[in-house]
Amino acid sequence: MADRLLIRPERAADHPAVADVVRRAFVRQPDDVASFVERIRASEHFIPELALVAEDDSGVIAHVVLSWVGVEGGSRPRILNLTPMSVRPDRQRRGVGTRLIRDALGRAEAAGEPLVMVEGIPGYYPRFGFEPAIPLGFVSPDPKVPDEAFLVKRLAGYTPDLAGRIVYPAAFAALGS
Ligand SMILES: CC(C)(COP(=O)(O)OP(=O)(O)OC[C@H]1O[C@@H](n2cnc3c(N)ncnc32)[C@H](O)[C@@H]1OP(=O)(O)O)[C@@H](O)C(=O)NCCC(=O)NCCS
Repeated sequence: MADRLLIRPERAADHPAVADVVRRAFVRQPDDVASFVERIRASEHFIPELALVAEDDSGVIAHVVLSWVGVEGGSRPRILNLTPMSVRPDRQRRGVGTRLIRDALGRAEAAGEPLVMVEGIPGYYPRFGFEPAIPLGFVSPDPKVPDEAFLVKRLAGYTPDLAGRIVYPAAFAALGS
């Protein structure tokens, strides 16, 4: 279904199309999530190579950001966090999100990163190998995050001493979830 799909890092020229995809995916909080993307981009936690778009003949149809979040008490001061993840509604449920997430995880692993965290849909992310973070020793960034939504994907470089308390950067603060 999702043929002719190109996945690549976003460029400045993509920003309007990305904002449109994000707004349409997060239809209940379009302004919050679109400005969240802008705040991450403007922050020191942004990693340009790991902000990805998927495009087909119609243009940008999906977007995902892997950016840094802090870890207190772990062996590394920061790990990758996957958010937000957006697929344009007319391209949802065709495997686009699956391809984009797998691609992003592959890039993270190729970069030598040991772990990716997500605060995400418990019925979606486990298929990519995400598992509950708490049994691995991680402490949630916010008591409002349901335990079953606090997930991590262990990559090749994972070691148990990575565990610690996740601390979201200021860019995350205004996002009502
Ligand atoms: C969630 C989202 C990223 C999934 O991307 P996608 O390309 O539609 O998903 P895929 O085609 O790879 O996978 C489809 C499967 O994912 C699951 N899925 C998709 N959306 C889901 C949702 N909101 N809740 C639970 N499961 C969901 C279903 O199992 C679905 O299979 P089905 O159609 O047979 O039921 C996309 O629907 C989206 O952008 N949603 C709005 C924004 C959002 O909620 N982002 C995620 C925040 S963590």
